[in-house]
Amino acid sequence: MTGSPELRPLGETLGTEALGIDLSRPLDDATFGWIERAFAEHPVLVFRNQNLGPAELATFGRRFGGPRIHSLVKYRHSEYPEVSWLTNVDADGKVDWFGVKRATDWHTDSPYDDDLPRLAILHAKEVPAAKGGTMFADMRAAYDTLPEAMKQRLARLVGLHGRGDGPAGERLYNGDLERQTDRDYAEKAHPAIRIHPVTGRPLLFVNPVHCHGFVGMDKDEAWPLIEELAAHSTQERFVYYHSWQVGDVLMWDEAATMHRGAGDYEPRERRIMLRTIVYPN
Ligand SMILES: [Fe+2]
Repeated sequence: MTGSPELRPLGETLGTEALGIDLSRPLDDATFGWIERAFAEHPVLVFRNQNLGPAELATFGRRFGGPRIHSLVKYRHSEYPEVSWLTNVDADGKVDWFGVKRATDWHTDSPYDDDLPRLAILHAKEVPAAKGGTMFADMRAAYDTLPEAMKQRLARLVGLHGRGDGPAGERLYNGDLERQTDRDYAEKAHPAIRIHPVTGRPLLFVNPVHCHGFVGMDKDEAWPLIEELAAHSTQERFVYYHSWQVGDVLMWDEAATMHRGAGDYEPRERRIMLRTIVYPN
């Protein structure tokens, strides 16, 4: 490391650039420690002008925990299964329409898995000329600004998370996910309020793609509540829109944020990224 890395805000709420780090080189412990401390306070952290292959991205991800093979078979990297492709281009070079619409509503990744991911990392390889961004919502601020009565109500609620069968998931996928996946997923239960394992801050943990109910509550009551919480969490003041540049490495905290593809670009333009997702050790 030459000189100390620095932080520079990108958005009003989330989005922070880390300057002065080359992720293609082995990270010494001091630099890694600096990244860990920065990430605890800045849960969407961006490193510009990087050039990583899948092996290097996997190595960077492994510093933070255990990698996981992606659930969607067709997007797995053939040599490095812990790395996957986020792409709108099919194997034959044509537009992959599922790739275009995939993940374009608010969610956290894989709350239907046996354990919850810690963070995910995207590395932009090809990006549209304009738009095609990824949006992030601050679930710390979302919790903090809930009315006190709602905080108390949610403290007793346990969310039920499936594979894209929440209200926004049904609108978005309409059953497509099942056709793209290689196994069945059981429903998983998670408290509606989580405590962040590093910072100790309370977080709202309800997203409208995967969360489809609450223990002991009818759908008629649960779905409006899920939609209300989603609208609250994604107010403009809590949202950061990341405009991608080729070479960006962006890592986000899966507990402290929700995210979505903005889905606002011309699908004829290529949008290709490498992704890895990391679980707590
Ligand atoms: Fe996602």
